[in-house]
Amino acid sequence: MADNEKILYDDGVHKCVMFSFDDEAHEDSYLSVNQYLIVQNGDGILIDPGSEAIFDELYEAVSAHVAIDKIKFIFFSHQDPDVAGSIGQWAVTTSAKFIMSSLWIRFMSHYGFLDMARVMSLSDHGAKLKFGKDYLQFVPAHFLHSPGNFSVYDSKSKIIFSGDIGAAILNAPEGSKKVENFEEHREHLEGFHKRYMGSNKLCKAWVSHIEKLDVAMIAPQHGFFFEDETVGEFLEWLKELKCGSDFMEELY
Ligand SMILES: [Fe+2]
Ligand SMILES: [Fe+2]
Repeated sequence: MADNEKILYDDGVHKCVMFSFDDEAHEDSYLSVNQYLIVQNGDGILIDPGSEAIFDELYEAVSAHVAIDKIKFIFFSHQDPDVAGSIGQWAVTTSAKFIMSSLWIRFMSHYGFLDMARVMSLSDHGAKLKFGKDYLQFVPAHFLHSPGNFSVYDSKSKIIFSGDIGAAILNAPEGSKKVENFEEHREHLEGFHKRYMGSNKLCKAWVSHIEKLDVAMIAPQHGFFFEDETVGEFLEWLKELKCGSDFMEELY
């Protein structure tokens, strides 16, 4: 298996794969980016497939796990180019339905995507979607950081794919992408979350929602994933984090 992919869960029927393809053209502002795939009984859902620049590599890597015409859904946690820039390419190469916040539908044509009949829009409260024998739950994560923003919970693997929540800004080395020591990892979270996330109130609301779910892993769109004791350590940290509008006086 290539260095830039990792199996997060596999019980022989249901599988979750993490890919880490980066746009290496932007070395000066390097940001490690993760993409995710869930496959059950041959059907797939792709999560935050990323920018145009990584499309070819990701397409090939995804093909090794699922037939491309069996990708049923592609989910976009929010509208950013590192999340949704490749939507036009996935539109012409798959027949998948695209799931996103209702806030972003009108903007997707600017990425070269026009077939709105293929969009499943999420209202602010989110939704549950049956996926094989299990379900996916789209959990509201508004203003964390985008105003129309969702995380997605996979009931089988118990992984929450958290989008930019939990994102670490670091030059991710090859190999393990698991957070081993939360205290050491914290410095890579702090700057990003303080400036990009909406407010402490919004962080608390997301954490209280997540705490109602049985979560084994938190898998963000940048950096490393949290598993075992670091899940709770991260949630405790996020609950107390002052960010965004909590610092408004400093911004004006
Ligand atoms: Fe983002
Ligand atoms: Fe991002």
